[in-house]
This record gives sequence, structure tokens and C-alpha cells, in this order.
Amino acid sequence: MAEPILPTLLPDTASCSDAGTSVGGVDLEELAETYGTPLFVYDEATLRARAREAARVFDDGVAFATKSFLCGAVARLALEEGLCLDVATGGELDLVIRAGVPASRVVLHGNNKSEEELARAVSLGVRRIVVDNFTEIARLATLVDADRPVDCVVRVTPGIEAHTHEFVRTGQEDTKFGFSVAAGDARRAIDILRAIPGVRVRGVHAHIGSQVFDLAPFAELVDVLVEFTRADDFDELCVGGGLGVAYVAGERAPSITQWGEALRRRVHEAGLDPRVRLLAEPGRAIVAQAAVTIYRVGAIKPLARRTYVAVDGGMSDNPRPVLYGSGYEAFDVARPLAPRDRPVRLVGKHCESGDVVVDEGWLPSDTAVGDLVATPVTGAYGYAMASNYNRVPRPAVVVVADGRARLVLRRETFDDLARLEVGGGAVSG
Ligand SMILES: Cc1ncc(COP(=O)(O)O)c(C=O)c1O
Repeated sequence: MAEPILPTLLPDTASCSDAGTSVGGVDLEELAETYGTPLFVYDEATLRARAREAARVFDDGVAFATKSFLCGAVARLALEEGLCLDVATGGELDLVIRAGVPASRVVLHGNNKSEEELARAVSLGVRRIVVDNFTEIARLATLVDADRPVDCVVRVTPGIEAHTHEFVRTGQEDTKFGFSVAAGDARRAIDILRAIPGVRVRGVHAHIGSQVFDLAPFAELVDVLVEFTRADDFDELCVGGGLGVAYVAGERAPSITQWGEALRRRVHEAGLDPRVRLLAEPGRAIVAQAAVTIYRVGAIKPLARRTYVAVDGGMSDNPRPVLYGSGYEAFDVARPLAPRDRPVRLVGKHCESGDVVVDEGWLPSDTAVGDLVATPVTGAYGYAMASNYNRVPRPAVVVVADGRARLVLRRETFDDLARLEVGGGAVSG
């Protein structure tokens, strides 16, 4: 038996009552009727509040990590709230530029930037290129021009093990990302870059991992970065993203403000020149809790150990349970206050036993076929990692605010999927 869904797992403006569930003043059942299911519903107020928090607690240049969720509307929102945008590929770069984000607010990441990606970033004049490896330095050297210098930061590997899933851990020595501080590669990279006319090294960057709850590894990171750059005349130091969020009851995560203030205290204690900007690039902490996904129940199969509740989405709209074993909660949209007294495994519609949305969840025992079920905290790395596995079209995304919903990404259609076929799908001719 589980308590009704915790309000702290829902977007800031969510309201649960005997009449149902609303977000941003919009009833979720009405949204499902209008836009269909599965449906991602983002609360604009939560997005803006988290973005504003990040802009307030860090210095100018703090970026939203767009890999966590990217569409034009969210890119513009982050920009409006004072954030830069961190992109990790040419595709993300292209989208934010199309959305009207000035290149001067874009930071380019990537451990394997192609010549085309680097050339586009250089010609657009992005704010920073985060240089990751020696091959990239050689590539960059052929593209820069002393008359139009490019601002870079060097991604370093600080040798810190964040306590999180190994697939999202990046600060340890054995990683594909960045230059090792301990092995001397980071210092060598800075020296080589400084010798290239047309490159300005503005600082260092590190990212220890994602979904990190404990502030201690971030403090350790600050110590490593401050010590490493003590003799450099750098303008900025970026601690990356990675702040964790609570997905299920019982989990507790620091707020963005607590995170930023703890980092600020630590840079002060470590004796960093106050002129040096303290930057970060949170993704999950800005978008995760802002969204819920609404599904419709299509089949229910009671077994001795548990009841399987199958919904009309699954691993194609939320691959995190399959990838990382991530936990989520579920609730009945029409009756969010009803006791959740039936243990369920919420599964998707894909041809895969691993297609699990909520491995060990609870729903009211009378939740039935045709009812709407929602999973909260699905704003990060859900739609962003969505696929068309089993040729399932991607869901629609709406943003809600002040009693109104705005469609920002329409639902994919079979026609969208078919348009990639060359020659109409004919085998010959
Ligand atoms: C370099 C870098 N910065 C920022 C982020 C964002 O992390 P998070 O969404 O956990 O804040 C990531 C995520 O993998 C990353 O690799």
C-alpha cells in the first residue's frame, strides 16, 4: 500500500483533488482528450523557476544542458531566463540556432566533434568550445583565424568518482571524456591551445556525472579545479551539471540554490580569485520535475505476484528504466488522492520484456482499462532519448501555463516515419 502521490514529485503548479489532477491550471484528462496519449506535459512555471534559480546562484555564462530536453520553446525559455545553452552535437547546435538563440549564448560540447561541427561553431562564433581531446585540438587549429579568436575552455578529468550509475559517471580517470589532470594531459592541452594563434583559453570545465545527490564530490571537484588553475589567469571555472532529482518517495535532492551556494562557499574557502566566474550546466535539475507523462491503460493482467498494467507508450518515450534501472512512480490521473493499494508493474507496448515504465509501482485497485495513468518527473532524458522502436511514433509535448496549453512538439505520425524511405519503400525499380 502506498500513500497518494507526493506533491513534491509533481510540477510546482500541480493540483490534486477528488476532481482529478491539473498542472498549470489545466486538467490532465482534458489534455489527454485534446492531444491524445502518451503525452508529455511541461509546466512553464516550474521550468522558469528552476532556470531562474540557476541564473541567480551562478555567474553569467551558466548554461542549460539541452541534452536533457530540447525543443525550440524550451531553448527560448532558458535564454529568456538568463541561461546560456550547452549543446553536445551539431544537431543540438542547429536546433538552438534555428530557435533564435544567439551563438554568443551557446556552448559546444562533444567528445568527437566532427570537422563540420567545429567549423560551424567557429563560423557562428559560439560563446565557448569545450575542448575534449588532442585530436580535436589539431582539428580546431586548422579552422581558427588569429583575426577572429575563438574562446575555448578545456574539459578536464578530475579523477573523482561520483556515486551514481556507472553509465552516467564521467569524472573518473577511466573515461572517454576530457584531459586527465593527474596524468598531465590537461596542462599539456592548455599549453598547446595557448600556442595556437586564434584560440583563447578562458578556463576549465569538468563534469563528474549525472543524478548525483551528494554535494561532497562537487566540493572535491572545486578543490581539484581551483588547485589546478591557481597559476592561470582564467576567467571562468565550470563544474558541469549532474545535480540529482528525486524520482520516487523517500529520495531527497539538494535544490539548485543549495548546490550553487555550497559550491560558492567551497570556491571561496579554496581561495579562488573572486573575479573568476563560477559556472555550471544543469539539465535534469531544471527540466525533470517540470513534466509528467500521461498514458492510457490498454490492458491489465493480474498474476499471483503482481498485476501488470500495460500503457500505450513505454521504453520508446522513457528508456531510463531499461538503461539505468531507474525508478518512477505512477498515479491514477482521475483519482490522485485515492489510496494506491494494488502493487503493479507498469509496462509499455513494446515487444520486449524489459519494456518497463515503473518496475514496482502502486495504483488504486480499481484503476481499469481505459483509465489515464501518469508518471511524474519525466521531464529529463525521456523525450530527449525517445526512439521509434517498434515503429512507435514519438508522443506530443505540451507546455501549460495560466490555464492554457500550448502544443510545442506535435505527435509523430506513421507518415513522419515513412518519409525516410527512399523510393517509396519499393525493393526494386
Ligand atoms: C558535459 C555535461 N554537462 C552537463 C550535463 C547535464 O547533466 P545533468 O542533466 O545531470 O545536470 C551532462 C550530462 O550528461 C554532461 O555530460
